[in-house]
Amino acid sequence: MEHTYFDYAATTPVDPEVLASMLPWFTSNFGNPSSTHWFGQKAEAAVEDARAEIAGIMGCSPTEIFFTSGGSEADNLALRGTALMRKSMYGASRILITPVEHDAILKTARQLEKEFGFTVDFIPVHQNGMVNLDKLELMLSSNVALVSSIYGNNEIGTINPINNIAHLCKLKGIPFHTDAVQAMGYCTVTTADGCDMLSAGAHKFYGPKGVGFLYKRKGLELLPTQTGGAQEKNLRAGTQNVPYIVGMATALKLSRKHFTDHQVHFMGLRDEVIRQVMSTIPYASLTGDPVSRLSNHASFLLPGVDGNRLVMALDMAGFCVSSGSACKTGNPEPSTVLLALGYSPADARSSLRITVGRATTKEDVFQVTQAIYKCIGKIQ
Ligand SMILES: Cc1ncc(COP(=O)(O)O)c(C=O)c1O
Repeated sequence: MEHTYFDYAATTPVDPEVLASMLPWFTSNFGNPSSTHWFGQKAEAAVEDARAEIAGIMGCSPTEIFFTSGGSEADNLALRGTALMRKSMYGASRILITPVEHDAILKTARQLEKEFGFTVDFIPVHQNGMVNLDKLELMLSSNVALVSSIYGNNEIGTINPINNIAHLCKLKGIPFHTDAVQAMGYCTVTTADGCDMLSAGAHKFYGPKGVGFLYKRKGLELLPTQTGGAQEKNLRAGTQNVPYIVGMATALKLSRKHFTDHQVHFMGLRDEVIRQVMSTIPYASLTGDPVSRLSNHASFLLPGVDGNRLVMALDMAGFCVSSGSACKTGNPEPSTVLLALGYSPADARSSLRITVGRATTKEDVFQVTQAIYKCIGKIQ
């Protein structure tokens, strides 16, 4: 049976042009960028060209881009690296994060609290998942090691006012990190937003899995969390994954080149998903902000419906969607993000996420919304 994909927030396929740019770096140009000979120099040049391309798009210096194995590692490096460095330099011991972060932030913060003596305080958010700026301002004391807030939420799609958060942190001289893994490709994310650090992962914007980057503002000192060779200016040891880094730069370049066309395509389909779900299922409600939301992201609560059972039924009917985030698929626990927004555990288990992509058509949207209606009837 053919399956139609509606889980582009979990991952995207590699764009054929991205793949083509990667292939030579697996075979003929296989050198180690740290080697001083001809092969090494060629690989190093490819890595540095990719860094310059990404930095140009992000509006920063190439020296401020650090390659990682993906979004999770960039988040870990930002949080742990900043927290530990600022503790040893200034005795800073508080970490401020939102309660609607991805586990890469949440669990890293929890470990810093449990094992390294930090206090983690949650920045209050509104019911749409947006940071409450007034409350954040009151929390910014001198012992805060860093603030981290998600840019575009993976579960509920809300886009945070990153420039406002960055501004408040800057006034107090507190480093601000944003997890832009989900926003990249769907917002014009740049360093002009004012953040000090930003995480991204290529597989969310039609690049390969297992590669990402951390933007880190010049002058901000981080403790390396992975030690060894001197790669990435001693901040992240390990031979760089040349083909994946090249692919990530191509993917970012393409996503910016076609940004407007993609946005129009995504938003039209996303709004159609929302319209059709809300009109066929009267008790459905949209989660996240209706306006400030990722262009490809529709998320709902369907009270009384088991989200995981619905995902399985839809899969059997040929439609791949998700409930909560991909990491939680198959996990019967209610989404911590939805609980943090004040929803009951029963409602938090009834979530459905539909994310559209470049290949999605209007007919696909019609088919999936019909299937949702039928599958709910079957499982209830
Ligand atoms: C908001 C957010 N942060 C971090 C990650 C982790 O990124 P990666 O899969 O590249 O490690 C994800 C992946 O779903 C995400 O959505």
